[in-house]
Amino acid sequence: MTTTRRSFLTASGGLAAGAMAGALTASAAAAAPQGTVIEHSLIPLPYAFDALEPVIDAETLETHYTRHHAAYVNGLNATERALAEARAADDMSQIQSLSRQYAFHGAGHYLHVLYWSVMAPPGNGGGGDPAGLLAGQIAKDFGSIEAFKTQFSAASISVEANGWCALHYRPADDRLLVLQIENHQNLTPWDVIPLMVIDVWEHAYYLKYQNRRGDYVEAWWDVVNWPRVSANLEAARE
Ligand SMILES: [Fe+2]
Repeated sequence: MTTTRRSFLTASGGLAAGAMAGALTASAAAAAPQGTVIEHSLIPLPYAFDALEPVIDAETLETHYTRHHAAYVNGLNATERALAEARAADDMSQIQSLSRQYAFHGAGHYLHVLYWSVMAPPGNGGGGDPAGLLAGQIAKDFGSIEAFKTQFSAASISVEANGWCALHYRPADDRLLVLQIENHQNLTPWDVIPLMVIDVWEHAYYLKYQNRRGDYVEAWWDVVNWPRVSANLEAARE
């Protein structure tokens, strides 16, 4: 990795604790007759491309971040510009397609930001077991940490085609849930707050693991940033 690239990745400190909302805040808002048009951007990663080795290899991480995640950011920006143009032209003929693109790219951007933020180098912030409030909540809702991991891994491995697996918090009954996500936006309930996600699109693991998604999922536990997930739970309960 070049010094320039490493400097870029650590610029602005990456994703600081509690920065999810800020990380997704778009910049350069500009008032316009068709409504405010904003520009979403690819935020700095909180670690270098090779920091998650050997669980996630540097080539996979760089491609995933600079090409796949970037494509969702670009798609989100293009969709919002197209919607603004449609309003300005008073032309809603493409609203169904634009609505679908809005959900796909917007959710794709959001989930990748969360994914990067809940990982850390193995043995240096990543791995181990949850502690404190999060550990107690997992034990209450799943029976044990091991039972939770078993369910989360099974759900991750069995996502049909491209998707994610998420640990959510549901405020209504103070409960954690594990749910699959297809693509970025399907199978999504509306009364939950995502705390932790694993990307199981093939682009997240195929270079290193080929079709062995199960090997990637089991290895992924060694990069989970439990303090961050715990902080996400504390924020969700406020
Ligand atoms: Fe991805």
